[in-house]
Amino acid sequence: MSQLIIALSKGRILKDTLPLLKVAGIELLEDPEKSRKLIFPTTHPQVQIVIIRATDVPTYVENGAADVGVAGKDVLMEHGASGVYEPLDLNIAKCRLMVAGKVNAPAVHGRLRIATKFVNLAKQYYAEKGEQVEVIKLYGSMELAPLMGLADRIVDVVDTGKTLVENGLEPLELIAHISSRLIVNKASFKRKADLIQPLLQQLSHAVEQSRV
Ligand code: ATP
Ligand code: PRP
Repeated sequence: MSQLIIALSKGRILKDTLPLLKVAGIELLEDPEKSRKLIFPTTHPQVQIVIIRATDVPTYVENGAADVGVAGKDVLMEHGASGVYEPLDLNIAKCRLMVAGKVNAPAVHGRLRIATKFVNLAKQYYAEKGEQVEVIKLYGSMELAPLMGLADRIVDVVDTGKTLVENGLEPLELIAHISSRLIVNKASFKRKADLIQPLLQQLSHAVEQSRV
């Protein structure tokens, strides 16, 4: 009997994906918040869930170590993720990828310094605008960089805008609307169609239901 591995990340993706999976008859047998395990059995005998870093999800799925995954469009764009199918927008973890900077910051002469964890995305965005910038890679708390004089702007996701406001920053440019997507390994899509097709149908149905 073939097995299906679904890769999810802790935090909001896990929290928002579990109710959708429940509609598809897949529930965790254990609470991942109370466990140090990384591989979890589910109520579906052929489905296991692995819990990994959000940025690692496309890598696992592209290489076939996981068959299916859920990842933010920001992470997928940054990764490239050309080796996976992206059949479904789950309409969860919605936010906007934005350029932000200090409120009333004076004009910058010379190259803008951009702090972000989305290095490829930022380079591509500014290249398309024809602007030469210096991109500084950070792994978190991007909002701090302009306050500390490390960068002039940040590229990060914004939801309510609270984090920006509380740090004296303002949104400046919208790069993309973001939501989380179901991604599928290309080989698994064919080889495990018997498991993946019903999952896709049930998840699409669950997404439709959650919209109304
Ligand atoms: P890592 O810890 O590996 O760096 P992360 O901190 O980006 O990952 P999460 O914060 O759980 O992981 O975010 C997962 C996804 O949720 C992001 O890729 C993005 O698409 C979306 N997201 C991030 N922040 C928000 C937010 N404040 N509101 C809504 N969606 C968000
Ligand atoms: C994300 C993002 C911003 C914040 C934006 O951080 O990196 O800092 O959310 O949300 P807001 O516009 O509603 O304030 P997150 O909460 O995921 O923290 P983390 O990246 O440090 O895990």
